[in-house]
Amino acid sequence: IKRLRMRKRTGDRDSKKQKTAGDEAGVSSSAQPRPRSRLLWWVKRGLLVVCVIYVSVPFMMRLFPDIIKHLVYSHRVSVPFFVNLSQPADLYLNHTVNMYLKSEQGISLGVWHTVPESQWKEAQGKDLEWYQDSLGAGIPIIIYLHGNGGTRAASHRVGLIHVLSAIGCHVLALDYRGFGDSTGEPTEVGLTTDTLYLYQWVKARSGSSLVVLWGHSLGTGVATNTAVKLIEQGIVVDGVIIEGAYTNIRQGGAHHPFAWFYRKFPGFEYFFLDTMAENNIIFPNDENLKRMKSRLLILHAEDDHIVPIHMAQQLYEIAQSAQNSENQVKMIPFAGSLGYHHNGLYKDPHLPGIIREFVHTLAP
Ligand SMILES: *[C@@H]1O[C@H](CO)[C@@H](O)[C@H](O)[C@H]1NC(C)=O
Ligand SMILES: *[C@@H]1O[C@H](CO)[C@@H](O)[C@H](O)[C@H]1NC(C)=O
Repeated sequence: IKRLRMRKRTGDRDSKKQKTAGDEAGVSSSAQPRPRSRLLWWVKRGLLVVCVIYVSVPFMMRLFPDIIKHLVYSHRVSVPFFVNLSQPADLYLNHTVNMYLKSEQGISLGVWHTVPESQWKEAQGKDLEWYQDSLGAGIPIIIYLHGNGGTRAASHRVGLIHVLSAIGCHVLALDYRGFGDSTGEPTEVGLTTDTLYLYQWVKARSGSSLVVLWGHSLGTGVATNTAVKLIEQGIVVDGVIIEGAYTNIRQGGAHHPFAWFYRKFPGFEYFFLDTMAENNIIFPNDENLKRMKSRLLILHAEDDHIVPIHMAQQLYEIAQSAQNSENQVKMIPFAGSLGYHHNGLYKDPHLPGIIREFVHTLAP
């Protein structure tokens, strides 16, 4: 009994101690701010904001179709920021002249004309007229149609201009309306009009020189749209090169990394893809290739994360069966292990040889 009592007493004492400790903790926690619950409050608030934005973006797209235009063209993303487009020599393009062409009333287009690298010394200090005259010398001319976002000064675009001029071609690189220092706002018809204008401007000066259209990414749709417009006028472009091409902007959009966030969203097609179509953003490479008669070269990196290579494969098959000829259409895939993704093909050491060979096959 004694032992039992003692145990009871010590037990009572223990429970009293615990009680006071608990009270002390309660007092201290209400007197000082609790950092953990404050953090939680911010996290909850942040998540709520993200959810509201996530859900409202699709509705905003329907209400303000201008948003989809900005997503597709990204023309206001004027990268690189600190480049003076009238001074291409700053980008080691010392054999390049900057000029402005008026494709339509009120539309001024910034264009670079780069002569073959072998002429760089001769080109120093020369005026527009010298550059224009040089187009008629029988040397191949490539009209470069860039993708969305940024200007003609973006590094992968300048990189390609260097490659093409080094293999002895003229390059004309334009910023479509609304891009870079060009005026106006982009539309699919507008981009095609600008390119048609540049093509005809070149043809008026090029004599018997070959003229090739090179489109990259969004620019592939501009290239094929232009080639089809010319077919309607009975003109076949000497050659067309498409790099990182999608079948059409609807399918391209559905596979775009941005769409990944919304692919499971109810009404994804209605909110995003239909909005593009209703705003006349189609860029139908697949339909265009069925009508084109130009010799075609398709370049695509296997690890392209923006436009998956199966789209280029599809285009290849469409063009093959439309032109019904082995030699007219060629596709060159670049191994994923090379790490070129969507923009890096210009780095490939075999590219100069590939382009030289393609241009050679065009010679009459
Ligand atoms: C860009 O270069 C041109 C021609 O050299 C010059 O007239 C113009 O002031 C420059 N613009 C800026 C913003 O520096
Ligand atoms: C001009 O450009 C050519 C070709 O890129 C280069 O070889 C040359 O060194 C450059 N010259 C000057 C003075 O920058």
